[in-house]
Order: sequence, then structure tokens, then C-alpha cells
Amino acid sequence: MLFSEEKVSEIIEKNDIVDVVSEYMNLKKSGSNYSSLCPFHSEKTPSFSVSSPKQIFYCFGCGVGGNVVSFIQKIERLSYVEALRLLAERAGVELARDRDPKAIKEANEKKAIYRINQEAARFFYSKLQDNRMPMQYLTGRGLSEAVIKRFGLGYAPNEWQNLLNDMSKKGFSAAALHQAGLLAKKEDAGRYYDKFRNRVMFPIIDLKGNVIAFGGRVMDDSKPKYLNSPETPVFSKGHNIYAMNFVKKVAGLENIIIVEGYMDVIALHQFGVNNAVASLGTAFTEHQAKLLKRFSNEIVIAYDSDLAGQAATLKGLAILEKAGCMVKVLSLPSGKDPDEYIRKEGLEAFKERIKKSLPLIAYKIESVKKGLDTNNLQDRIRFTKGFSEILKDIESNTEVDAYVKKYSKDMQVDETAVYAELNRLRDKNKNGNNKHNIISDKKSESKMLKGEIIAETYLLNICIYYFDKAKNIFKMIEPEDFSVDLHEKIASLIKTKSDEGKTITAGEIISCFENEEVKLQAAALFSIELPEGKSDDLMMSCIDKIKQSKNTRRIQELTEKMNALFQAGEKEQANKLFVEIIELQKLRK
Ligand code: UTP
Ligand code: MN
Repeated sequence: MLFSEEKVSEIIEKNDIVDVVSEYMNLKKSGSNYSSLCPFHSEKTPSFSVSSPKQIFYCFGCGVGGNVVSFIQKIERLSYVEALRLLAERAGVELARDRDPKAIKEANEKKAIYRINQEAARFFYSKLQDNRMPMQYLTGRGLSEAVIKRFGLGYAPNEWQNLLNDMSKKGFSAAALHQAGLLAKKEDAGRYYDKFRNRVMFPIIDLKGNVIAFGGRVMDDSKPKYLNSPETPVFSKGHNIYAMNFVKKVAGLENIIIVEGYMDVIALHQFGVNNAVASLGTAFTEHQAKLLKRFSNEIVIAYDSDLAGQAATLKGLAILEKAGCMVKVLSLPSGKDPDEYIRKEGLEAFKERIKKSLPLIAYKIESVKKGLDTNNLQDRIRFTKGFSEILKDIESNTEVDAYVKKYSKDMQVDETAVYAELNRLRDKNKNGNNKHNIISDKKSESKMLKGEIIAETYLLNICIYYFDKAKNIFKMIEPEDFSVDLHEKIASLIKTKSDEGKTITAGEIISCFENEEVKLQAAALFSIELPEGKSDDLMMSCIDKIKQSKNTRRIQELTEKMNALFQAGEKEQANKLFVEIIELQKLRK
């Protein structure tokens, strides 16, 4: 646990949601709320609302909502912990790690490297402007001046200590430059020299805008084609996504296109594909998948169509899928990477390819299909096997049926043969853990009564608006009386606080839930306005409604039980229930 409950409360308390949101958007006061256009979806009339008394935000257009922490998570696309850190820093709340000498030392070390990298990027950039040859190389590859500037491309001169000398003049030590990964060291002589020489330079920038590393490309056929910064305190391979610093700012991001290389990303951006990023090299990692997922659920993979690229695609797919992304595969004609393709065929053709990108399952099936001959029996058997292997993991039967229908015909295999193989595979895989196990909710929905849910919602809102009433409310009603699980949990959070003589805000309640979906439900719940009129009257009628509903539900349950007992010939037991039911009915109004 990085943050104690008290710390989280303190951070939330010291960051007024109206102030925080105002730093990002123009809020207009309307009633007790503030409103503006929603930053999370595109719209023409404002449906984004911020409530000062409740310390929450909610968009009636797209349903996004939460407390101040969720807002920062969403707008800055940060994890929960990162958002808390940002807010702590904003409000000057001291965290335990701020006092840890080791953490302080590490933070300072990192800051120093960021500064060095920033300076080095400037140095490389100016060298590119001064040297015709590398500039000609880049423009010769079709790069515009604007895109070179935007991506901060540069040039490392063909000398051994050019960067070292320049940076020394600026007061940076060789040891520090070495730690930043910009210098190499001759072991025997102990002498430092520039690591990047005679290469065009691509700075790698993190989400906060720090230069964390460089990639340098030769301008001929020598090897290695690209030289990358070594691991440093600010750079670990496989933890970053190239160009994510740009893509994170795209409003209404529909999906993210992931390509392999620097040049692919830059070409795509130059042509207006502003949602392209690169994994840099083919080994796609879980870290990268999680990072992508933070920004978009839909990922389009556009790796090279060569064999290595295809293998990488399949591996990447698996990792992205595991991270919970919706993955699609964009295929390009063989031998082409996105850079070459878009330059030759243009933006429209590329967009068409995006549109035609295949969902994961279809892509897998297509890969199995590739090179097989429907006239050949062996090939048809091969297909049936591979095909079933893919289908066995699909949970929805209708989906399976659809694929079987389509591909059995295409590949001229017998549907029953596919199903037989599929059943065999599924039987083999069955080891007791039934995925279709339905976890039943507290009360089945059919038994939920109309009006009951709204009464519970109002009552919880009353508790938040007028916290001093909460104590009284929970003298008359128990959290268990609430019919919806979430309502019960919230009620018990409020009751606990009020028993302790403390208060709790809607924002704090939301922060108690870890699950994103649940947070949203809670935010939606607190986003309703209470009806006009005396709050005490409303409170009493809500309590009454909830109690009545509970009573009615109990009567229904007992009646069902009684009927069952009666049918089973247990007349005496049934009679006992009958008496109980009559008693309950007397309580009804
Ligand atoms: P590619 O070999 O596909 O190169 O490597 P590319 O991106 O098409 O580059 P150009 O068009 O020839 O300039 C894809 C990515 O793999 C990493 C780089 O990040 C590169 O962009 N790579 C490749 C290296 O790190 N080192 C290498 O030697 C080669
Ligand atoms: Mn290329």
C-alpha cells in the first residue's frame, strides 16, 4: 500500500475539484454546479458538470465521472498512484517517499539526466541544421522540415569528442554524460568518447516531455542500422512507446496504430495519421501493452509483413489481448513497411487499410489459411485442426457458429468435422474450471422493485448533502436493507464514518472503489439532483419506500418457499410460513 487512507483523504481534501478542473477547462457556474464542454468526448453543448459540494465531476453525455483523482487520471492519462502523486505535489502534501534519502537521491539523479538529455537533443538538433549531408539524408527520405522539428531529429557529428567537448563547456561532467548513456568509455585508458557518431538522431520522449533516450541511424548500409541508448536510470527498454507523448494529446482518440520503427511513426504523422506510435524493435512487452491500454482500448498493429514482423505481430497480439485490448491487425503488401507504403500509396490508401484491418480471431484464421490449397485433402485437414484450435477459446457460441459457417464454405471443409474437432479440444481442456460460472448478485433483478432504486439513490445523496442527517438515517435503516450491492456498500461506508463522528464526501467514497466500472457507477449515482422540497420529507419517504420494498420482497420469497413446501407435501412447514407471511402483510400500507 503506497498511500494510506488518511493520505488519500488529505490529498483529495487539499485539491478542490473545481480549482483543479479549472486549470484544464473553462468552467461556467450553473446553479450549485459548474459546467463546460466535456474534455473526454466531442460535443457542441456542455454536458460536463462539476459539483463543488460533492467534489465530483460527471458527464451526462459520455457517462465519465469520478472524483478529483479520477479526473487527473483521465485528463493526464495517469495511473491511480501517479495521479495521487501529481495531486500531492500540486497541493504540497508531503509523501513518505519525499523524506526517504534514497528516493531523494534517485529523483535528483534522474533530474540531472533529463537535463543532460535535453541539452544533448538541442546540440544534435543544431548540428543537423548546420550539416548538409544528414539533412539531405532525411529530406531525401521525404521528411519535411516541420516534421523534423516536431520530432526533434538531430545529427551526431562524425567525431569522437564533439558532444563531450560541447557539454563540458556547459558544465556537465563526463561521468554524468556517461551515466546518461551518451558517452562510452575505453576500459583500459579510462577515456570517454561520444557513443553516437555520424548518425541521425531520434530523441525518445516520455509522457511528461522528458528526453529519456536516443536512437541513432547510420546513413548508409553499415551496421548496426540503429544504435540505441543503453539502459539508464531514466530509460529501460520495453517500458516506453515512441511518440506516445504526441498521441496522448489527441482528443477523442479512437484507436492507436502501433508500428515497429521510428521512421514509420514519423512518416505516418507527416501524412496526418496522428495516432501512430512505435514499440521500437520487435520485442513487444507487457509494460508497453499496459501503457497503450491506458490511452485506448483499441489497438491496430501494423508491423512489417516479413516473417519476423508476422511472428512479432502474433506475439504482440497475445500480449495486448492479455492486457485487455481490442486488437486488430493491419496488413500491408509484402516487403512494405508503413513508411514505404504511405509514401507510395498515400494517406487514403492507408486509411482504407486501417478500415480493413482484421480483428484478432479473423487474423489468426487468415494466418492459418495462408498457403493452404482447398483442393488438397491434407491441407483441408490441416485447416480444420488449426481453425478449431483458434475457435476453442471463443466463449460465445453464436460467434463460433458464424466463423464455422463462413470458413467451412471458403475452405470446403465439413462443418460437422470442425465441430467434432472443436468438441474434442474443448473436452481435453476441461479441467473443472467452468468459465461460465455466473456469480449471482445479491438479489435477482426481477425481484427488484420499481422506485426502490431511485429511493436508495436519493437517500444516499441526502446523506452526502446533509451529512448530519446520516446518523439519524442509519438509526432507522440498515445498510443491508439496500437492494443494490453498490448501494449497500456505500451506505455502510457512510454509516461507519458517521458512527465515528466523521464525515465523508462523494469524492472520497468513489476513491474507496478500485474497479473503474464501479467508480463510474458511484459517480453516476452522486450526479443526480435531489428533487425540490423539504429534505426531511424526502428522506422519510425514501426510507419508507426502501422498507416497504424489502418487506414486499421478503413476502415474495416466503410465498415461493411456501408453495414449494406445499407441493412437496410438507403441509405443516408451509402453514408456518403462511402465518409469517400474514404478519408481514399487516406491515404493508
Ligand atoms: P527496421 O529494420 O524495420 O527499420 O527496424 P525501419 O524502422 O524500417 O528503419 P528504416 O526505414 O530502415 O530507417 C524497426 C525498428 O527496430 C529497431 C528500431 O527501433 C527500428 O526503428 N532497430 C532496428 C534497432 O533498434 N536496431 C537495429 O539495428 C535495427
Ligand atoms: Mn523502414
